[in-house]
Formats: sequence, C-alpha cells, structure tokens
Amino acid sequence: MKTIIEPFRIKTTEPIHIISKEERIQALADAHQNVFLLDAEDCCIDLLTDSGTGAMSTRQWAAMMIGDESYAGSRSWKHFQATVKDITGIKHVFPTHQGRAAEAILAQTLIRKGDIIPNNSHFDTTRANIEYVGGVAVNLLCPEGTDTSDTSPFKGNMDIEKLEQCIAANGKEKIPFAMITVTNNTGGGQPVSMKNIQAVKSVLQKHGIPLVIDACRFAENAYFIKHREPGYENRSLLEIAREIFSCADGATMSCKKDGLANIGGFLICNNDDWAEKFRTLLIIREGFPTYGGLAGRDLEAIAVGLKEALEYDYQVYRHATVQYLSKSLIEIGVPIVRPAGGHAVFLDAKKMLPHIPPLQYPGIGIVNALYTHGGVRGVELGTVMFGAFDENGNETASPLELVRLAFPRRVYTQSHFDYLIEVIREVWENRQEIPGYKITYQAPFLRHFTCHFEKLARA
Ligand code: F0G
Repeated sequence: MKTIIEPFRIKTTEPIHIISKEERIQALADAHQNVFLLDAEDCCIDLLTDSGTGAMSTRQWAAMMIGDESYAGSRSWKHFQATVKDITGIKHVFPTHQGRAAEAILAQTLIRKGDIIPNNSHFDTTRANIEYVGGVAVNLLCPEGTDTSDTSPFKGNMDIEKLEQCIAANGKEKIPFAMITVTNNTGGGQPVSMKNIQAVKSVLQKHGIPLVIDACRFAENAYFIKHREPGYENRSLLEIAREIFSCADGATMSCKKDGLANIGGFLICNNDDWAEKFRTLLIIREGFPTYGGLAGRDLEAIAVGLKEALEYDYQVYRHATVQYLSKSLIEIGVPIVRPAGGHAVFLDAKKMLPHIPPLQYPGIGIVNALYTHGGVRGVELGTVMFGAFDENGNETASPLELVRLAFPRRVYTQSHFDYLIEVIREVWENRQEIPGYKITYQAPFLRHFTCHFEKLARA
C-alpha cells in the first residue's frame, strides 16, 4: 500500500515562529511553567486542542464570501439548516456560538435541581452546565473504557447494565434526558458502536427517556463504525451518521470539531415543546433563531464543513495521522493510551515518569519537557486538571496522569509529525532528568488554566 497523503494541497501558509531552546526555557519561566500562559506564537507545534484550530478549505472560504448577513431568515441560515437536517434528520435546528452554549440552553430549559443526567463520559463543560443548574452528571462508561491498555474497538460505549441500574435507582421522573458523547473525548476520543447507541436508545425508550447526543466528533465516530463494526463496511459515512442521529431525540454540537469551522455550534431536537423553550432562551442569550450568535459567513463555513468532515478520503487521512504517531510511539516504547482515539494521542505520564509522585504532577513534567525540547504544546489531563481536595483540605490524585496531544484538522503535515516524534523520543530518552512540580498559585475553579508552577529539585 502506498503512503496515505494529505488529501489537499496548501494554498495559503501561516508561518511558524521557531525560537531557540534557551528562548523557550525563558518563555516557560515567564509563563510560570504553565503552557496555558504562553504566547501561542512561541509554540512551534500547538496540540493544545483540536477545537476551532482547523484549516478551512477553499470551498469553505468561497462559501464565506457569499455569506448573507441579514438578521432574520438569511440565505446562509437556510443553507445551514438544510445541511444539519440532511445529516441528522432532526426537525428543529438552533445555531449557537459554540458547543457549550447549546449545552447551557439544554440544561437551563430541561434540568431541575436534583435531576440525574447519565452519559458515557461528560465533557467538562457539559458537566459544568448540568451542575450549574443543580443537576447531577453521571458517567456510565463501560469498564474497558478506563483501562489504558485494553484494545477493545469501542471503548467509548456506555455500560447498558449501569444505565438500567441508574434508571431503576433514580426513577425516570428524575432523568429528563440521557446523553451519549461520540467520540468519548474525556475517555481518550474512543468511539461508541452503533449497537451500543441503539441499545442505549432502546433502554431509554422503554422508560420514555429522551436521548441527546453530544455530537462534536460524530464524523470521526462514523469512520470507526465503518471500519470496526461488522455490517457497516459498505455504508457511506453520511449513511452511518444518519443512522446514529436516527436514535437521537436531540443533539448538541460544537462545530469547532467535526464542523471543520473555527467557531460555531448547534442544538437540535424533534420535540416541539423543547423547541419552544430552546427558542425562547436562544433569543435572550445567543441571538435571533436564524443566526444564534453566528455571522452568516460562519453558518456557510459550517454548512460546507459538516459535509467535508463526512468525506471518506478526509477521514482516512485524519485517522492515518493518529495511527502514524501512535504506531511510532509504540515502536519507541513510549507508553500511550491504546488503541489511539480519533482526535488525539494520549501519553501515559504515570508510566513514563514513575519517579514522580502524582502530587508532583508527572503530566506537567511531560508537558513542559515537550515544550522545552521542541516547542510542542500539549495539555495535562491528570491531577492538576481533575485532582480534588478531601474533607480535610488535602489534595487527592487523579486515577490517570495523561498528556493529550490533540490534532488540529488539516493543519500539520507528515513532516510536522516526524518532528513531533523526534521531540517525544528526546523527552523519553531524557525522562530521568524531568523534575516534579509544585503549585505556587491557583484559582478556586478550573485551576489548570491559570495556576503557577515551580520546579522541584530532582531527588
Ligand atoms: N463536548 C465535547 C465532547 C467536547 O470535546 C467539547 C469541547 C464540548 C462539548 C464543548 O464545545 O468548546 O465548542 O464549547 N472540547 C474542546 C477540547 C474544548 O479541547 O476538547 P465548545
């Protein structure tokens, strides 16, 4: 088989600012050892997130030029609405400025204090929006989803038995809707099988509980179904996506992922009463229902992007980049979460740095080493991001210490990945020199974004 090439050529370039190792050490010191506080310009390969960081196609830019900026009923809205309906088959479509705005409207209209919202794994903004209105966000991930070395094909699946138990324990009156996140970002970008989505739907249907899909990476999930689930080999990604959404009563979407856009989202539903409530809050918070916080040109870019994300060649290339990196790292011996998910590779910092205890943040050790060795920016998903404090105020560790390297869509080429592999190899070979860290400043919530670190002396 020949090399899988990027299925595009590059027409516009954006220079990468390459600074020296000494300058990076200084930049990180100025940023209090927290890569969130760096200037993006000082990062040569920025893998902080795959959200809103993708490159748009010529077709998207062309569509933007014909964006209709009318306040109400614009042509661009019609294009957006028709595309979303074509893919999802869902009746009511509401544009929002990004995914969490859709989540906020969903939570604030449908959840009462004490309500339970099951999901395979809630993304942190979903959880925050549910908890903000007094709901309880429950994760019901299948057991293999938490084992970083289990190579099951659908580690994002929901545990159906746990779902039944959750409904039995709480009663359907306490569960205004359940969610399923495709792919499961928090669990490593792992896919959910069609069989599982259908099983979740059938359990919920039995109890009259609606299903809302968090659809951020629906096209990547459709590709996994095509390749891993028997019976879907010959189906197009669009057909698979339609089948996924046919199980849903509604969905939230961040078009910054599989909308291939830099901003945008939507909230959709079939229920007319829900639609009435969503519309009312949307007008107060986001804007008139035919633009919902977006410019007409954004609606156009998303309408084109949603379809491009379902193009088979694009997904082949996208998944090949993840495979390319993960295969190389496995060959070198670097411990990673297996199998790799759809949008990122996760390094296992706990296994990489056994000499650093969790409360000295091994994930930060890796993140900062990647930056100093090569200007690569990743993100810690470990004790800094998820750690908690017990009733005595003592910090507790997260069960996993991971570093996410998320791939912006259509941005980096194979030579960028070769460079990335060289940087990770260098970090791996010099891992004994990586120090632990302590926090010298932290905010009361979401501390990882703004906290300050100090290096600890190596024992
Ligand atoms: N749901 C999932 C599964 C997500 O991954 C995200 C965002 C959201 C909802 C919220 O969407 O950012 O448009 O408001 N994930 C980004 C990330 C931020 O880096 O994984 P948003």
